[in-house]
Amino acid sequence: MGSPLALLLLLLLLLHQPLFSAANVHKLNLLRSELLSQPTPRNDAAPTLFFEVTKPIELPKTKPCTQHVLQHDFGYTYGKPPVFANYTPPSYCPSQSFSKIVLEWKATCKGRQFDRIFGVWLGGVELLRSCTAEPTQNGIVWIVEKDITRYYSLLQNNQTLAVYLGNVVDKTYTGIYHVNISIHFYPAEKNLNYNYVQKLGNTENLDSGYHSWADLILPISRSLPLNDGLWFEIQNSTDTQLKEFEIPQNAYRAVLEVYVSFHENDEFWYSNVPNEYIAANNLSGTPGNGPFREVVVSLDGEVVGAVWPFTVIFTGGVNPLLWRPITAIGSFDLPSYDIEITPFLGKILDGKSHKFGFNVTNALNVWYVDANLHLWLDKQSTKTEGELSKHSSLPLVVSLVSDFKGLNGTFFTRAGRSVLSTGWMKSSYGNITTDAIQDFHYSNAMVMKNDGNTQIVNQIIHFNDTVHIRPPSSTVHSMSSSKNFSLYMYSDYLEQSNESYTLVTNVELGFIEKKSASAGSGFSNSSLRNLQNAEGNMVVKNNLVASGLGSTQQVYRFDSARSCYFRNISSSNYTILYDMARLTCTTKPESNLDFGLSTLLPFGAQSNFPGPRFT
Ligand SMILES: *[C@@H]1O[C@H](CO)[C@@H](O)[C@H](O)[C@H]1NC(C)=O
Ligand SMILES: *[C@@H]1O[C@H](CO)[C@@H](O)[C@H](O)[C@H]1NC(C)=O
Ligand SMILES: *[C@@H]1O[C@H](CO)[C@@H](O)[C@H](O)[C@H]1NC(C)=O
Ligand SMILES: *[C@@H]1O[C@H](CO)[C@@H](O)[C@H](O)[C@H]1NC(C)=O
Ligand SMILES: *[C@@H]1O[C@H](CO)[C@@H](O)[C@H](O)[C@H]1NC(C)=O
Ligand SMILES: *[C@@H]1O[C@H](CO)[C@@H](O)[C@H](O)[C@H]1NC(C)=O
Ligand SMILES: *[C@@H]1O[C@H](CO)[C@@H](O)[C@H](O)[C@H]1NC(C)=O
Ligand SMILES: *[C@@H]1O[C@H](CO)[C@@H](O)[C@H](O)[C@H]1NC(C)=O
Ligand SMILES: *[C@@H]1O[C@H](CO)[C@@H](O)[C@H](O)[C@H]1NC(C)=O
Ligand SMILES: *[C@@H]1O[C@H](CO)[C@@H](O)[C@H](O)[C@H]1NC(C)=O
Ligand SMILES: *[C@@H]1O[C@H](CO)[C@@H](O)[C@H](O)[C@H]1NC(C)=O
Ligand SMILES: *[C@@H]1O[C@H](CO)[C@@H](O)[C@H](O)[C@H]1NC(C)=O
Repeated sequence: MGSPLALLLLLLLLLHQPLFSAANVHKLNLLRSELLSQPTPRNDAAPTLFFEVTKPIELPKTKPCTQHVLQHDFGYTYGKPPVFANYTPPSYCPSQSFSKIVLEWKATCKGRQFDRIFGVWLGGVELLRSCTAEPTQNGIVWIVEKDITRYYSLLQNNQTLAVYLGNVVDKTYTGIYHVNISIHFYPAEKNLNYNYVQKLGNTENLDSGYHSWADLILPISRSLPLNDGLWFEIQNSTDTQLKEFEIPQNAYRAVLEVYVSFHENDEFWYSNVPNEYIAANNLSGTPGNGPFREVVVSLDGEVVGAVWPFTVIFTGGVNPLLWRPITAIGSFDLPSYDIEITPFLGKILDGKSHKFGFNVTNALNVWYVDANLHLWLDKQSTKTEGELSKHSSLPLVVSLVSDFKGLNGTFFTRAGRSVLSTGWMKSSYGNITTDAIQDFHYSNAMVMKNDGNTQIVNQIIHFNDTVHIRPPSSTVHSMSSSKNFSLYMYSDYLEQSNESYTLVTNVELGFIEKKSASAGSGFSNSSLRNLQNAEGNMVVKNNLVASGLGSTQQVYRFDSARSCYFRNISSSNYTILYDMARLTCTTKPESNLDFGLSTLLPFGAQSNFPGPRFT
């Protein structure tokens, strides 16, 4: 084409692959799938194990009861209703008191296939949002394990399990996903003061009321019947999706857990260019609206909180070779985001129906959003009462400084938001005041060089989240987390001849998360650093990938008083170059209390690794 828009077009056509639509499968996606079908450099026929690096789930030393809940082959499932299965609680287990419940997704696939987004719901409550791994001719296998103990109350009753994975199978895209889902129930260890009731503090009477899992979880998702996922589909920036719900009148705490994923024109939202650049250069088909997005959550029209999502890159994203076999952070277990709703609880205890709403600032088609409302109920009373005493949701501030000439330019986008709410709740635990504070800062620097053939994106999101629980005349409990989500992406398109070009991509993706909880003089801190550094290139000739290389380094480090985990791993062209892991702590514990920080802002833990070398 010889067009100066080559990089953009290539990025768009190559990277914005449809995850679910056969109709959208573009010619250039074929090219990409050719890339995927390269034989693995292994000689054996054993399927390659793909995995995401995370901290292994801490398990009690008891034998789990395993419930196999679904076996299904996802062939041509696009646009069809989710696959359903009946779930029954493991009544046959000798013990009915579990300290850990783990969902296991195991899948194999062979041939050629795209990365597909999928969701697993139980009774309409989302348990897992994930993305499939892209297969090879020799076949691949991957396992996702997720700690689902927080859904304990849901798992005590018969439920319908639903899985939506919109796959397309034809002569070209041959990969069928063979899937098994099991749930492992680990009985509590006997004679140990280790209980499934994870305590917030160890001195207060209040503690028993703040166990880590809720008494009731309401789905804030789409209702049946439908022909795709139970998630809401947000198509544009003015699209608000609403869900009516009613809660029991004796609730005393509420947390909304929000799941989000972004696709098609917003799959790489952080690299979308401003509309004025698109207009000035007469670009068409280029995703715009700039690089800032936020998911806004409202209750009866009032903003209760926001989600500024982590930049999850799916297994086929940017350069698929980067994610073999180590997949991108969050791709196998997308993070969910918790919003403390307790200050607003007083407004919805009237036994009437209320509405949660979701919209996405600057959204382009399409965002999949839904939520789970976790409710704690007062067993000593049939009616609790409460009031929102203070609420301020400062309007979103976005600034854009742009300077461009033709297709070269620089753009700085900054944004900030804070949501503060205070409310009291009177229950049998007393009259407790809750403060919830969310604070966000965002900055994105984007450079377009080489007449648009080179793009550099540097983005960081800072997010502080604090909850204070203030019982009358006793210690204030505080839980806070501070997170930095960072992304650096370099893409360079180089035309070599008429029908041959090279694409070089470097990605640095990661987050730092510090959590702390305190009750009086007691405190407990933890920190998690997870950083991936990936670089790759591919040479494309006559619409076919002639060669390519992808390599990834990752350092994962978690430290807390109760446990530590460190892993340093590197891969290149499907081969693990080194893999070192350590489960012991090297620094002194940052806690004087033995309590978990479990419920706030979980960043799913799993243990799907092939076996590192422990040092
Ligand atoms: C699923 O489970 C069945 C029965 O145990 C087994 O035959 C099959 O190989 C499993 N498939 C995967 C992908 O693990
Ligand atoms: C749950 O399902 C099982 C198996 O279908 C059935 O035997 C049982 O009666 C159900 N329990 C309830 C409470 O409906
Ligand atoms: C935004 O999406 C909604 C829902 O699909 C649709 O009804 C509306 O027309 C769209 N608005 C624009 C401006 O495209
Ligand atoms: C964009 O289109 C307009 C009108 O067709 C034309 O005047 C202008 O020169 C074009 N700009 C570029 C950068 O191609
Ligand atoms: C999103 O929802 C919030 C809360 O209802 C509202 O204030 C805001 O205007 C909505 N945004 C858009 C773009 O409609
Ligand atoms: C609960 O405490 C708040 C703040 O101290 C107070 O304003 C409110 O009236 C109290 N509610 C009840 C029912 O006592
Ligand atoms: C979060 O808290 C840290 C430490 O208190 C502070 O340095 C930072 O500015 C805060 N960030 C935001 C976005 O509020
Ligand atoms: C854009 O920048 C490149 C160097 O990165 C330069 O060669 C080219 O002339 C510039 N184009 C314009 C329109 O300024
Ligand atoms: C995030 O970055 C900001 C600014 O660089 C810093 O002040 C803050 O401490 C960082 N937060 C964490 C959790 O590292
Ligand atoms: C480039 O490719 C086109 C279409 O295949 C062909 O018509 C043209 O002659 C080629 N140009 C060169 C310089 O090779
Ligand atoms: C625990 O974390 C909090 C908040 O980040 C901090 O203020 C406090 O100093 C930390 N305590 C220790 C002992 O590190
Ligand atoms: C990776 O594969 C490419 C293409 O097959 C090859 O040129 C390169 O040397 C390989 N690199 C490593 C580190 O194996």
